[in-house]
Amino acid sequence: MQEHRVVIDTDPGVDDAIAILMALACPSFEIVGLTTVGGNVPLARGTRNGLALLEYAGREDIPVAAGAARPYRGSFRYSYRFHTPNGIGRRLPNPKTRPVEIGAVEFLAGALDHAPSGLTVIALGPLTNLALLLERYPESLERLNLLVVMGGAVDVPGNTTANAEFNIHSDAYAANLVLSRMSPTTLVELGACRQAAITREDVGNLRSSGRLGRLAAQILANWFARDEGRRRFEFYDPLTVAAAIDPAVMTVRRTGLRVELEDPELFGATLPDYGNPEAAVSHQVDTERFFGLLAETLGLRVQDRI
Ligand code: BDR
Ligand code: CA
Repeated sequence: MQEHRVVIDTDPGVDDAIAILMALACPSFEIVGLTTVGGNVPLARGTRNGLALLEYAGREDIPVAAGAARPYRGSFRYSYRFHTPNGIGRRLPNPKTRPVEIGAVEFLAGALDHAPSGLTVIALGPLTNLALLLERYPESLERLNLLVVMGGAVDVPGNTTANAEFNIHSDAYAANLVLSRMSPTTLVELGACRQAAITREDVGNLRSSGRLGRLAAQILANWFARDEGRRRFEFYDPLTVAAAIDPAVMTVRRTGLRVELEDPELFGATLPDYGNPEAAVSHQVDTERFFGLLAETLGLRVQDRI
């Protein structure tokens, strides 16, 4: 298996946490760092969660660089109801490690500069850090092998407004910059993520082996237990990591995209723009392959899915 050097830009986050665990357990990834951004929870909380997850996994050697606490305009609207006040819904010991001295944007630029055979960036939160990278260090992007983004609602209703998805809506200005200038990009959008889901009934039939798989299973069980109205958990960020591990987990359509910034009703919507670089936009998910990857990496098995 070819090894990929990877940075994960993230706002941990229940599904970010499972995605990070999955990436840590992937033998073909060399994770060179986590960069954090506000989004699901405030930056300081997300950064703490990133450090705590790495310590839990015994991977304190992986640096964490804190990034943007605010989007280009306004402020982030945190999503405590979904992600719980601590962000992952499972208590983890206070991390002993600290983020590195440099910020996320400088860290990403350095990671790109020191990646002779290129770097894969997996973006699981608002795109603020990446837009700032594009503005401050455009030359470093020559060594970007692939950007894989969780974001957007293309041809499906949004989850934040009727038309917009959370990560893109959280910093629509940054997202528009990234989608109109960064390439090559794979976009794992909501329509695909909704295909990769488990139900409340499935969670009782989860089997996990290994430390990371057990933590992922507890995070899922806690998420369902918090609210008896919750029927389905959609694997947004884990599907995005899966697409970086194995692109065959979904089919794609190639299209240029932009983010609507003017029309108040459509604000934050991901719309076709044929003048922009083409992105590979998720279409049909091979769910058996996705659940197979969860089992292979985390030892997390959903009965009857594989
Ligand atoms: C995205 O928004 C966040 O709530 C999740 O972590 C995911 O990245 C889904 O819209
Ligand atoms: Ca996220």
